[in-house]
Amino acid sequence: MPKKFYVTTPIYYPSGNLHIGHAYTTTLADILKRYKDMQGYESFFLTGSDEHGQKIEEKAREARLTPIDYLEDKVESFKTLWKALKIDYTKFIRTTDSYHEETVKKIFTLLLDKGFIYKGNYEGLYCISCEEFLNADQIDENNMCKISNTKLELVKEETYFLKTSLFQEFMENEVLASEFLIPAYRRNEMLNSFVKPELKDLSVTRTSFSWGIPINEDPKHVVYVWLDALTNYITALGYLQNDDLNFQKFWADENTEILQLAGKEIIRFHSIYWPIILKSLGLRQPTHLLGHGWILSKDTKMSKSLGNVIDPIDMINKYGADALRFYIGYELPTEKDGNFTDDLFIESFNAHLANNVGNLISRTNQMITKYFDGFIENDNIVYDDNLTAKGIETINLYIQNMDQYKISDAIRNILDLGNACNKYIEETMPWNLAKEEKLDELKNVMATLQRNISIMVFLLKPILVENYADMIEQIGLNGVELTFDKINNWDKIIFKKLGDKKIIFKRVN
Ligand code: MSP
Repeated sequence: MPKKFYVTTPIYYPSGNLHIGHAYTTTLADILKRYKDMQGYESFFLTGSDEHGQKIEEKAREARLTPIDYLEDKVESFKTLWKALKIDYTKFIRTTDSYHEETVKKIFTLLLDKGFIYKGNYEGLYCISCEEFLNADQIDENNMCKISNTKLELVKEETYFLKTSLFQEFMENEVLASEFLIPAYRRNEMLNSFVKPELKDLSVTRTSFSWGIPINEDPKHVVYVWLDALTNYITALGYLQNDDLNFQKFWADENTEILQLAGKEIIRFHSIYWPIILKSLGLRQPTHLLGHGWILSKDTKMSKSLGNVIDPIDMINKYGADALRFYIGYELPTEKDGNFTDDLFIESFNAHLANNVGNLISRTNQMITKYFDGFIENDNIVYDDNLTAKGIETINLYIQNMDQYKISDAIRNILDLGNACNKYIEETMPWNLAKEEKLDELKNVMATLQRNISIMVFLLKPILVENYADMIEQIGLNGVELTFDKINNWDKIIFKKLGDKKIIFKRVN
């Protein structure tokens, strides 16, 4: 039985176009999914759109459209972006899909029947942009939401509550005391800001607008957009539906590695309310929630409401999907906020993709072509010990990092090997060996390079998906099946004649 991996992104609000911040989460998920595929896992990758709630209702009204008409183009544009960015998702869920709506109603009924939901009245300040009732800590001195910087609405209405207060101990002693939420420092943040001060029951229906899923028991209530949204992670797999094969396989099975990704502003929902909902339903918890920081643009969060966004489609059109995937994977490690500007992007592209990786591949291709007519006979090769050891070490470090979802560190490992290869060329000076006709030595040097560059290219496969085939061809491995096992043992890998030299990542000025 292959090991199983289920990875999810948040489902995004179609209240505007997606920006680099959304592309960030989705690309991280995609890189990890592709890595797990390379490791032989059976994987399922879910993304989608979060289509109900007051914000969408208002946006549609502004556009003089019905919500569903308003959503159509927006959701199409999500799919267009994911295609352009080479996102290999397994399923795209829309919370307006009827199977989802029906299942959310069933989930509500189930929680009501189990006694976890009761009816009452709520009064509090609501941030429409975040779709969240805020506590005092989340409000600034001008009575605005600290995150979205928008005005709050005083809401006073009848509502159903989820008894989250019952789960204080569960949160403190189990969920937030475990390895579930990463990075680890986020556990204390959640404990101190939201759990220890008192877990208040969560309002899970709204009555003052109608764009949501009405509950069967009391249809003037629509399900609170977060209960609707969080459950997407299981409704998409067939939970409480006739065909629940994927649910059994990718959720119910304790052996499945479940990874959920979320930006820091919504870690609260994913690390507190979602585990409580799952626990109330009697379901297992995800293996990990990877919370990540924000992409900043000139030191503030890039966001639609702040109007400082960069359009990922523009970046892809200018530099290609791989360039954006690389920047996201390497330059924006998840444990802190990161910057995204054109200048930083170009600097990184030139330093790493053009100079290190691209140039290394093309200069090596050029030398093997010139000195060996593009083909090195696989006999009596003596590989350089140091560089060979570095190659093996790189594979191991890369696996260790990727297994901990540390994509940026894993890419650094590859770039280090690239630097070592470039240095090796400077030191061995193959052009002099050729001039002096030291052909055996020259062959060993070129074969050592070819081997280590092959390792680099293989390890870059989940990241540089658009250029992978070209890189493989350039290094002479067209049609050769590569696996972790094979590259580690350098076993049964027989090079072909190299493809013609191509410039893979052309320097940008
Ligand atoms: N619909 C909810 C999520 C429901 S999941 C059950 C939502 N949607 S959103 O459209 O606002 O997207 C939020 C997600 O987008 C964040 O968790 C994060 O993944 C990503 N980001 C949006 N802006 C971002 C940055 N500036 N930087 C990094 N990620 C950001 O919240």
